[in-house]
Amino acid sequence: MPTDAPTDTSQRTHDLVIAANRLPVDRVVDADGTQSWRTSPGGLVTAMEAVMKGREGAWVGWAGETGEAPAPFVENGLHLHPVPLSQQEVTDYYEGFSNDTLWPIYHDVIVPAGFHRSWWQAYRTVNERFARAVADVAAQGATVWIHDYQLQLVPELLRAMRPDVRIGWFNHIPFPPVELFAQLPWRGGILEGLLGADYLGFQRSADAQNFVRACRQVLGLTTKGDTVTVPGTGSRRARVVRASAVPISIDSAGLEALAMTPAVQERAAAIRASLGSPKVVLLGVDRLDYTKGIRHRLKAYEELLAEGAIKPPDVTFVQVATPSRERVAAYRQLRTEVETTVGRINGQYGELGVAAIHYLHHSYPREEMAALFQAADVMLVTPLRDGMNLVAKEYVTCRHDEGGALVLSEFTGAWHEMHQAFVCNPHDIEGLKQTILRAIHTDAKDKRRIMRALRRRVSEHDVQLWAKRFLEALATAPERPSAKDRATS
Ligand code: ADP
Ligand code: G6P
Repeated sequence: MPTDAPTDTSQRTHDLVIAANRLPVDRVVDADGTQSWRTSPGGLVTAMEAVMKGREGAWVGWAGETGEAPAPFVENGLHLHPVPLSQQEVTDYYEGFSNDTLWPIYHDVIVPAGFHRSWWQAYRTVNERFARAVADVAAQGATVWIHDYQLQLVPELLRAMRPDVRIGWFNHIPFPPVELFAQLPWRGGILEGLLGADYLGFQRSADAQNFVRACRQVLGLTTKGDTVTVPGTGSRRARVVRASAVPISIDSAGLEALAMTPAVQERAAAIRASLGSPKVVLLGVDRLDYTKGIRHRLKAYEELLAEGAIKPPDVTFVQVATPSRERVAAYRQLRTEVETTVGRINGQYGELGVAAIHYLHHSYPREEMAALFQAADVMLVTPLRDGMNLVAKEYVTCRHDEGGALVLSEFTGAWHEMHQAFVCNPHDIEGLKQTILRAIHTDAKDKRRIMRALRRRVSEHDVQLWAKRFLEALATAPERPSAKDRATS
């Protein structure tokens, strides 16, 4: 059973400390007891791994299994500090409060959120443990960068323990409108937790505005533009906290270089050949999550097949769905529905040796993902709500040949930067079908022009620029309210 005992205080401290629920690697122990490390799922790890490469820093996070945590260790120059979670905490803090309460509320309540006081209690306990672990490894005056919805209480908890450090927090997912946020029985505690930071970064301006508005309406605080004034209490003086948009991105140069290697290009050709060399390959790549609009995508595809607008083997669809949060009921139900639909589509429209849809429920190495992106004529990114969606950026980056077409939901953060894409509203199935057909049939020259513009945008706004902008905003964040703000707070 994990304890909250501080880790060895003689250990090295760091000027830059990252805290995220997950470490960049998960520990996997095989049946025979051998231990190995596997890249953790999701966009947060993709982005932060690239940012931390070459920066000396510590990463505090969970190693993905229950019970005692492994001892701190160094990997690729990164000092990894595992935080333990008991089985009950995984159930209540991770699967419960983080992914069955906050995740649905922060994603437009696509599925209903569960509210349980015991989950909130576990969330508080685990956030305290993370704050303690960060306090133990942060050097005097260090910069601490906390990530995502699982750790919203850490900023304030850490400030109480270590007033000397500079604290930033970045939300990888949307921040909901106050009308939804206010449903949370613990809304005040969450806002107070976040306001312990000096700077709060969000994917879109709308997310930052939602947060500022929640501070005004829920806590009754004074706000002005993108700042919130936190009144002083006891020995603590009043502070100003800034909240603004810094959209995340990918390591575009690194991914493009990988995509240009002969091995990846050969693999892309081999993938097309193994699919029967169709005229058109459609591709979806997502964690198996109800926010990603996979059901809507499959519905549109099935109707197009039914109407004869597209026909295998000329057209085929590859859906890669990474396993995710498999013990949470809504995810289990999604998996059943998706797999039933895939079976029905193949049963109805497939032939011997010709599948209408190829469904892959695995994780793959980066090289294989790059080859898949290159092999796809049309990339379907159709979330109902998504903070950013790095897959959209990865797809255009891998298309150094300027081929391919991106269908992109207007409900992703990515769409706010990639307006030239074939935009869709995934709720509008008829519209989605027409957009898929347009992406297939638009003249190749026009598609190249679009792809060039999308690629330029992503290469000029890569993950290093994102990190630079975030860290600069954190370094220059205001500490004290101006005389005028003090008068009104
Ligand atoms: P999210 O963070 O919600 O999962 P993103 O699209 O922002 O969504 O990021 C997903 C990341 O996971 C991308 O870097 C993508 O390439 C990667 N990924 C998705 N599916 C797989 C898979 N099956 N195998 C390996 N990596 C994957
Ligand atoms: C999204 C979240 C991350 C999370 C990832 C994978 O990207 O923003 O915080 O790590 O999904 O989800 P998981 O629950 O497996 O960590």
